[in-house]
Amino acid sequence: MENFARNSLKKKKFIIFGGGFSGQFIANEIRKLGCEVLTSSRQIQQNTSSFVFDSISNELPPEYVFDQTTHVLSCIPPDKDGKDPVLSRLHKKLKSLDLEWVGYLSTTGVYGNTFGEWVTERDPARPLQDRSKRRLLCERNWLTSNLPIQIFRLPGIYGPGRSTFESIFKKNIKVIYKPNQVFSRIHVADIANAIIYLILKINNVNFKQIINIADNYPTSQVEVIAHTYKLLGLKMPEPIDFDDAKKLLSPIALSFWEENRRVSNALLCKDLGYRLIHKNYKSGLKNCLEIIKQKNIR
Ligand SMILES: NC(=O)c1ccc[n+]([C@@H]2O[C@H](COP(=O)([O-])OP(=O)(O)OC[C@H]3O[C@@H](n4cnc5c(N)ncnc54)[C@H](OP(=O)(O)O)[C@@H]3O)[C@@H](O)[C@H]2O)c1
Repeated sequence: MENFARNSLKKKKFIIFGGGFSGQFIANEIRKLGCEVLTSSRQIQQNTSSFVFDSISNELPPEYVFDQTTHVLSCIPPDKDGKDPVLSRLHKKLKSLDLEWVGYLSTTGVYGNTFGEWVTERDPARPLQDRSKRRLLCERNWLTSNLPIQIFRLPGIYGPGRSTFESIFKKNIKVIYKPNQVFSRIHVADIANAIIYLILKINNVNFKQIINIADNYPTSQVEVIAHTYKLLGLKMPEPIDFDDAKKLLSPIALSFWEENRRVSNALLCKDLGYRLIHKNYKSGLKNCLEIIKQKNIR
């Protein structure tokens, strides 16, 4: 059944708006299924599977990009004015296509601060930060777009090339301790795999429009950093108390510490039956280190 379903994706064509960290990873995983995938970038890239799209300069994709497209995924954050870059420029165009599925990467920032409590898709969105208010606005615009939309709310994304290893190598890691503070996270491979899993379930009666993709184990940043140092065989610097660290943090970095929540994946993993590749940061970091060793990029 699984193979049959995967084969049924073979002839599909995907556009991924925003070929950044997650967009490129997801594109590569979908290509492995035999699909054509084009990704956008704000600058001209060398490869033929990339096209230019920039909502600010209003540089729109060339017409060929849309030919035969069946699936669209947006990985682009809201514009500064709260408009969705893709919808504000391309809604009409997307509506004119015969799309089977449209995905949107959102954030769990829309839930705001739950003071460390678990949060599910059934809980109301109570965004605290302006950027999360803009995000919720974009979600709502997608939901009322009359497109076959599915929204994925994501916590901190990490994976090969973007993890605590790179922060340590680049010497820009800050080890900060704040009592009872946790962060939820997700390995990029699980974002890609869960999305493919959900696309294959598109005709299921249990179709859900908003789904959290998070791992099983929200925990403190210090615990994750300590484990990263241990894997490298290095000594972690003494953690700085949050009150002392405040003045070292940029306003954007500080804003992440103002929210404390545990993101539940029960809908995805229990109700919809998805099995995580990386259930926790230990499994995810092991994978990141293996890839660092393979590439020998240190
Ligand atoms: N990073 C996280 O921890 C995290 C957590 C939760 C949710 N998210 C959200 O999930 C999505 C993917 O995250 P990511 O970290 O993979 O993103 P990313 O690496 O920052 O990539 C963002 C992509 O959006 C494109 N983009 C940005 N502004 C644009 C505009 N005005 N017009 C056209 N394209 C534009 C960028 O183009 P260029 O390729 O030209 O730069 C890039 O391809 C984003 O919406 C992000 O906000 C991220």
